Amino acid sequence: MKELSVNHLLGIKYITEDDIHLIFETADHFKEVINRSIKKVPSLRDITIANLFFENSTRTRLSFELAEKRLSADVINFSAASSSVKKGETLIDTVNNILSMKVDMVVMRHPNPGAGVFLAKHVNASIVNAGDGAHEHPTQALLDSYSIREKLGDVAGKKVVIVGDILHSRVALSNIFALQKLGAEVKVCGPKTLLPKYIDKIGVGVEGNLRKALEWCDVANMLRVQNERMDISYFPTTREYTQQYGVNKALLDSLNKEIVVMHPGPINRGVEITSDVADSKQAIILDQVQNGVAVRMAVLYLLASKIKPHED
Ligand code: CP
Repeated sequence: MKELSVNHLLGIKYITEDDIHLIFETADHFKEVINRSIKKVPSLRDITIANLFFENSTRTRLSFELAEKRLSADVINFSAASSSVKKGETLIDTVNNILSMKVDMVVMRHPNPGAGVFLAKHVNASIVNAGDGAHEHPTQALLDSYSIREKLGDVAGKKVVIVGDILHSRVALSNIFALQKLGAEVKVCGPKTLLPKYIDKIGVGVEGNLRKALEWCDVANMLRVQNERMDISYFPTTREYTQQYGVNKALLDSLNKEIVVMHPGPINRGVEITSDVADSKQAIILDQVQNGVAVRMAVLYLLASKIKPHED
């Protein structure tokens, strides 16, 4: 049986192109399974998974929980807001207490970049990064590339532009790594203030003009403006941001081709994308969410196959 080159999924940076193809092939199988009338398989029957969310989430948390349940894993959920973290308990103490209950895998979202890498060094469980600050969101990038593959047949050779708040986006960085490993060409487009300093050192093109970026690309991935991570003003007004970097139906219709529009959610409707685009046939936003369950099933299944049994 083919296996992943890693014991944890901490970021796309740490996995290979072969790993991504293996995850996609496994996700193809699980996508077929979850479209059956009996959607559950016993693959992870003796595995216990803790979902630790130190930051808010709708899609990722529910998608992991559903993926785990479809695989028949035992699942426990932890939300920092209602936990003893509020009494000052550290991350390591929190996780070690949870692991003492014989937990095999931890899915964690955390506001600090590198929190998953830190945890993997200090605890004895397989760690899946469900988003760590502005660093990486590997399963989002996997489901995004999987959705491009589903829609356009392949990722290799495709032109993808990632638009908007690149600076604060873990989705952007993980997507860039995944798309490059799979052979796509990547550009970013956004206000200079929302582009990280390292952007021209990681092999992506930069296009300041949204129309030119859309004319160039096959796929536009529109990112949310992450107001909650902004301690200063990065652009004059939301109205000006939308005029320069927001995508609307009139703009898409004026291009000489039909492009695929993506968004990781949650959407600021009317800011980075108008409702008539978000709800149009060109947008594959809900396909991305649907594919997230199969892709996360694949990641959990492949990582679980590498777990050694607990010693009693
Ligand atoms: N795309 C994404 O990570 O959404 P949530 O924050 O709702 O999980």
